[in-house]
Amino acid sequence: MSALRELRVDLGERSYSIRIGAGSLTQAGAGISEASRARRFLLVSNERVYGLYGEKLVKALQSQGYEVLVSLMPDGEQYKNMDEAMKIIDRAIAWNLDRSGGAIALGGGVVGDLAGLVASLVHRGIDFIQLPTTLLAQVDSSVGGKVAVNHPRGKNLLGAFHQPRLVLIDPLTLKTLEEREYRGGLGEAVKYGIACDAGFFGYLEEHVEQVRAQDPECIEELIYQACRIKAEVVEEDEQEARHRMVLNLGHTFGHSLEMLGEYQAFRHGEAVAMGTIAAAFMALEMGYLDQGQLNRIGLLYRALGLATRFPGYDPEEVYTGMMNDKKSSHNRLRFILPRGIGAYVVVEAPPRELVYRAIRQAQKYSPNY
Ligand SMILES: NC(=O)c1ccc[n+]([C@@H]2O[C@H](COP(=O)([O-])OP(=O)(O)OC[C@H]3O[C@@H](n4cnc5c(N)ncnc54)[C@H](O)[C@@H]3O)[C@@H](O)[C@H]2O)c1
Ligand SMILES: [Zn+2]
Repeated sequence: MSALRELRVDLGERSYSIRIGAGSLTQAGAGISEASRARRFLLVSNERVYGLYGEKLVKALQSQGYEVLVSLMPDGEQYKNMDEAMKIIDRAIAWNLDRSGGAIALGGGVVGDLAGLVASLVHRGIDFIQLPTTLLAQVDSSVGGKVAVNHPRGKNLLGAFHQPRLVLIDPLTLKTLEEREYRGGLGEAVKYGIACDAGFFGYLEEHVEQVRAQDPECIEELIYQACRIKAEVVEEDEQEARHRMVLNLGHTFGHSLEMLGEYQAFRHGEAVAMGTIAAAFMALEMGYLDQGQLNRIGLLYRALGLATRFPGYDPEEVYTGMMNDKKSSHNRLRFILPRGIGAYVVVEAPPRELVYRAIRQAQKYSPNY
């Protein structure tokens, strides 16, 4: 195993470490024992991820004296709901998991979000450990303490803030991830560069080939930088009063696209990338971005294998979808727009025509040199 790289999320008594290293999953016990006093853990995963990594992990934990109860959920976003969460809670309670116990999530963002919500509810909150296995979960969802399940009326409507005690990231798990999931994760990672950190954006531009080829050192660096930036954002605004909204770059458009595609047509990160292009056209018209900067964004997405052209839905449909999304508070749409590369601006309730124009331009867009 290579040496672990470590980041700290500084949130007073809720502070925790993010540890990143190839092979770290097999050493999870050591990290967990430093982060939590719990000796009994509910391990939440799904069949697929558990089939790949579960047994080895459980053996490793048991060999260190941990008691582990495995509870698997079906694979898929459609199972990120209260019924599945309740099944897991029922098993935990039947197993007499008390306040001194903990929960471990082994999987992507779906498992992490659901297991985290379970951990926040059982006995008003038990220790929670994130072992993320998708790129999206490693660069985004495992850090920051937002946990939730979906409600028939909307995504992530039932949730809590429950910070993990430890996030342990093993990039080797990405080897079994489908190519499209990996690219989706890249779509999400790029937002940190565009909205928060020009240096990270430049790093991605310079390492496109290595990133696409999943060069181990490069992936580790990418994950490290993404987590560093996310940790800084969360430290400044844990409960999303304002600054944490920056992480929603491309998401206002993106959520509407996901909905219009009935959560089948696009992976989340793909929708976010296309949504960011539309946001960039809004920023262009409002004078926050110039054509050259917009093109850098488009070129990077394209080089990473992500679609840059906004799908051909009627702009009015996209707009209605955005209005129905929970993030439009008091019926006012809110957009995070890039302000140059490495900064952002929040725009509320822009004129509808401006949004339509941005969508139409994004539907014709093709990045060029
Ligand atoms: N809490 C947050 O802050 C936050 C942030 C962003 C996204 N999210 C949530 O994350 C979820 C999406 O997460 P995701 O993109 O990880 O999807 P996912 O959890 O559905 O994982 C994608 C697929 O990859 C499989 N998989 C996972 N790890 C694997 C591995 N190592 N090898 C092979 N297959 C593997 C999964 O079984 C699944 O089929 C959404 O529900 C979204 O709302 C949460
Ligand atoms: Zn996202």
